[in-house]
Amino acid sequence: DDPEKLAAFQARIDAGEKIEPKDWMPEGYRKTLIRQIGQHAHSEIVGQLPEGNWITRAPTLERKAILLAKVQDEAGHGLYLYCAAETLGVSRDEITEMLLDGRMKYSSIFNYPTLNWADIGAVGWLVDGAAIMNQVPLQRTSFGPYSRAMIRICKEESFHQRQGYDAIRKMAEGTPEQKKMAQDALNRLWYPSLMMFGPSDKDSVHSAQSMAWKIKMNTNDELRQKFVDQTVPQAEYLGLTIPDPDLKWNEERGHYDYTDPDWSEFFEVIKGNGPCNVDRLAARNKAWDDGAWVRDGLLAHAKKKATRQHA
Ligand code: 3HC
Repeated sequence: DDPEKLAAFQARIDAGEKIEPKDWMPEGYRKTLIRQIGQHAHSEIVGQLPEGNWITRAPTLERKAILLAKVQDEAGHGLYLYCAAETLGVSRDEITEMLLDGRMKYSSIFNYPTLNWADIGAVGWLVDGAAIMNQVPLQRTSFGPYSRAMIRICKEESFHQRQGYDAIRKMAEGTPEQKKMAQDALNRLWYPSLMMFGPSDKDSVHSAQSMAWKIKMNTNDELRQKFVDQTVPQAEYLGLTIPDPDLKWNEERGHYDYTDPDWSEFFEVIKGNGPCNVDRLAARNKAWDDGAWVRDGLLAHAKKKATRQHA
């Protein structure tokens, strides 16, 4: 790229201006946005699978209606984000293809199973809680369509987190068996939730450039620390124990000291070897294949309509 154009572009970013799709942008900026927004969108869509699994088995009609609304919201979040990615010149089909053949990622957390109803509460509480931590700063990201999508998405995320926390609170305050289930869900989902924020800063290949371009507003470890600081008191309120014997408040730092997730597990999961990666991609591939007749029908209808208009 032309150094003058690059300098002018960086000055716009530093001045807090929004970059719109038709503006000049460095190729690397465009590529990073397609990667991040695309994988964010894939996360929303794949994220529907672990929770969708429990819609027909919710314990009450009220919980079923709440979970249905939440899973439906996630589809909408995926839609806003795919539309934002399309403004960068990549089609929905191309980006979907890259998910289906494993060239693009989605959030590691969705490669863990939801084994029972307590997991649904823990997913809302921890996973949506982590997603809020990561998405709220992205409302100020430099790319206009992404920032506007984030503003809309964040409005719904707090409902997602609250409904999960309420569901797991019910069990933590319920029978001893229910409390045991809630504790077991926390034990299994705590470290995978910490992994959602990405590798530690020293291993983050994209952070420096993404922060210079305001595609990322905070480092991975910063947001992870914020999530731990906010979640520990919530677990205490529930009478549940975070599965980390070295977790403790550090007065000097003004934060909790905590044990990092197992990074070898993290890199295995994002390489495709997590507990549910095969099932998740198989489910998305099946949905794509099963929907081919709808796409073909719509295209045939659109073509017929177009030729009629020109006849
Ligand atoms: N899951 C899968 N891959 C991950 C990951 C995770 N939790 N964390 C990092 N990675 C990947 C990165 O994508 C990158 O691989 P790539 O080059 O093939 O894309 C590699 O690990 C190195 O990590 P970096 O920290 O260098 O990468 P980023 O700068 O992209 O940071 C991120 C990763 C923090 C996830 C950032 O991309 C981001 O903020 N993305 C947008 C928000 C998002 O996707 N949030 C999580 C899902 S949203 C959600 O949970 C839905 C909610 O409704 C429940």
